[in-house]
Amino acid sequence: MQAWSRAARAAGKRVGFVPTMGCLHDGHLSLMREAKRRADVCVVSIYVNPTQFGPKEDFSKYPRDFERDRKLCESAGVDVIFAPTDAEIYPAGAATTWVEETAVAERWEGASRPGHFRGVCTVVAKLFNIVLPDVACFGQKDAQQCAVLKRMVRDLSFPLEFVVCPTVREPDGLAMSSRNVYLSPAERQDALALKQSLDFAARDLPAGRTVDEVSAAMVRLIGSKPSARIDYIAFVDPETLLPVKRYEPGRMLVMMAVFVGKTRLIDNMVL
Ligand code: PAF
Repeated sequence: MQAWSRAARAAGKRVGFVPTMGCLHDGHLSLMREAKRRADVCVVSIYVNPTQFGPKEDFSKYPRDFERDRKLCESAGVDVIFAPTDAEIYPAGAATTWVEETAVAERWEGASRPGHFRGVCTVVAKLFNIVLPDVACFGQKDAQQCAVLKRMVRDLSFPLEFVVCPTVREPDGLAMSSRNVYLSPAERQDALALKQSLDFAARDLPAGRTVDEVSAAMVRLIGSKPSARIDYIAFVDPETLLPVKRYEPGRMLVMMAVFVGKTRLIDNMVL
């Protein structure tokens, strides 16, 4: 992979990169389109990274279908799929060197999923060193992952452009996610409350309602869905992810994690 990238760069080509865990959907395809727009060649990695899953999380049942993913990449004009084995990514059998961001990774997802961002940073740093991209594209759907990785890129001086692309949604508003396949039809219906509650915030905060009022309305809406249980709803600065109480256009990110049945969904919106 490194040799291929070096050769592409030596030939004057910009290398675009989209890291994924497979089970590709339209959100990933939009990242591939953006990578192709910003670069001459596009590499997609498919690797379900064990170190970013907690012991009670869905690593073993995470959906995997390489043939389907391969066809989607081909139809999107991807030049290379990099699909390493565990032994290639973790040659010692487990990670023995870690990359850890310690400011924006601590709260929210980091608090609910201890070790998650350490696993993400470690594998993404490694993938950057293998794929040698000029530009890497990530989805806003994982807002905290983007904030953490942006810091990592800055702090460790990775020589690449870090691009965050808008969340892609189903026609009814549900943010696309590989985990949506876990939802039963009734849960799939209840899951619409995430985006609907973000729409409340987008309407009511600029209209002068307080964060506490809006937050209470969001909790009521999501709480009215039988299968939903809120993990957190947070009103934060989009870069530091520290809580903010006052709405300022473009300076407030509303992020949430909600269990719908046993499936943990996340969503967010910059207001
Ligand atoms: O967003 C994901 O799918 C994963 O966290 C990533 C960036 C591919 C690292 O495993």
